[in-house]
Amino acid sequence: MEKVVLLFLYMLVVVVPSAFADSSQKLEVQKELKKLNSPPVRSIKSPDGDIIDCVHVSHQLALDHPDLKNHKIQMKPNFHPEGHPFGESKVSSNSKPITHLWHQNGRCPQGTIPVRRTSKNDILRASSIQQFGKKKERSFPQPKPAKPLPDSGHEHAIAYVEGDKYYGAKATINVWKPKVQQSHEFSLSQMWILAGSFDKDLNSIEAGWQVSRELYGDNNTRLFTYWTTDAYKATGCYNLRCSGFIQINRDIALGASISPLSKYNSSQYYISILVWKDPKEGNWWMQFGSDHVMGYWPASLFSHLSDSASMIEWGGEVVNSESDGQHTTTQMGSGHFPEEGFGKASYFKNIQIVDGNNKLIDPQDLGTHSDKDSCYNVHTRSASDWGNYFYYGGPGRNPNCP
Ligand SMILES: *[C@@H]1O[C@H](CO)[C@@H](O)[C@H](O)[C@H]1NC(C)=O
Ligand SMILES: *[C@@H]1O[C@H](CO)[C@@H](O)[C@H](O)[C@H]1NC(C)=O
Repeated sequence: MEKVVLLFLYMLVVVVPSAFADSSQKLEVQKELKKLNSPPVRSIKSPDGDIIDCVHVSHQLALDHPDLKNHKIQMKPNFHPEGHPFGESKVSSNSKPITHLWHQNGRCPQGTIPVRRTSKNDILRASSIQQFGKKKERSFPQPKPAKPLPDSGHEHAIAYVEGDKYYGAKATINVWKPKVQQSHEFSLSQMWILAGSFDKDLNSIEAGWQVSRELYGDNNTRLFTYWTTDAYKATGCYNLRCSGFIQINRDIALGASISPLSKYNSSQYYISILVWKDPKEGNWWMQFGSDHVMGYWPASLFSHLSDSASMIEWGGEVVNSESDGQHTTTQMGSGHFPEEGFGKASYFKNIQIVDGNNKLIDPQDLGTHSDKDSCYNVHTRSASDWGNYFYYGGPGRNPNCP
């Protein structure tokens, strides 16, 4: 079947030279799709239009990575940091954990993992096939840059710790659906686990939620991960869009839509994420919620992070492309400023770090940073049942942010 299609494309090339670019691009897209989408054991159609493929755990794309040729998949972590990761004793009645939309139509069988199927359009929306699933610009939230940074258009409002060795981080993140003005802009809320130097070889592990039409073709709020070992230059990608992250969980799909979402002055929903380093194997593990161990980034992917992280950040990021000469109206968090507080502004709560004794502890000296506080801002606080927490976000364009 495939041969016939190939032959047909060749004939087109010979007969109509101007079709060359088109058909060779088509072939490349086909090749990429074949690489990305392993044959599934079962497929589930999600109400949001996504197709979730249940792929055998040992057939996942991660294992194509040259460093992982003979990798033996670890089906559970050797170690879990001490403490009660998400043991909030008092979950307020109107603050609920979330589920995944695709669960309405089925679950993946044992021995498989759910993979959001990459469509032709997902690839065509990227600026190039090489760029698919990667970050375009190098932009990290940098609280105290060594020299002034050029304006990348990326704006952040974050809390952070630095200056120690960190072996993990966790947070409970309020989930919203911020409005995103332009198709190439995005709005996300995440944590960053960082080591190395910002301009060269930064190693980064990232996880949270995002709204990005460029990545997913819609305005849904989606669970995501990201990793890089060279400050976004050549390595790494979102979710399972390249080899690297090894998933073992069969319930949660990276890149899937989160539902339900928080509403202003009404029901509030959150996700919880814990990332920690296995002290024995060195792998960085990720857990979603209180009982979904997602999988791990093998130690061999990283340089600096193969030892420990030197900085942890939590917060929001948007792209401001000023396409109409004014600040974007793309929202961060709920689209409301921190001052408005619970039910109105978005929050991160129970933020903790994993210390040198592999214990989950409250961070000391939590710093804050916002690039343009009249557009998006951040306020840290602490309270007995919410631990260390902060409100963050904003509406973007407003009279003080023209
Ligand atoms: C996403 O949101 C933008 C801006 O609010 C809107 O113009 C667009 O139609 C939406 N796209 C989809 C696919 O819902
Ligand atoms: C929020 O909800 C309460 C009770 O439902 C209502 O009295 C109040 O006016 C609302 N506030 C805003 C700003 O919408």
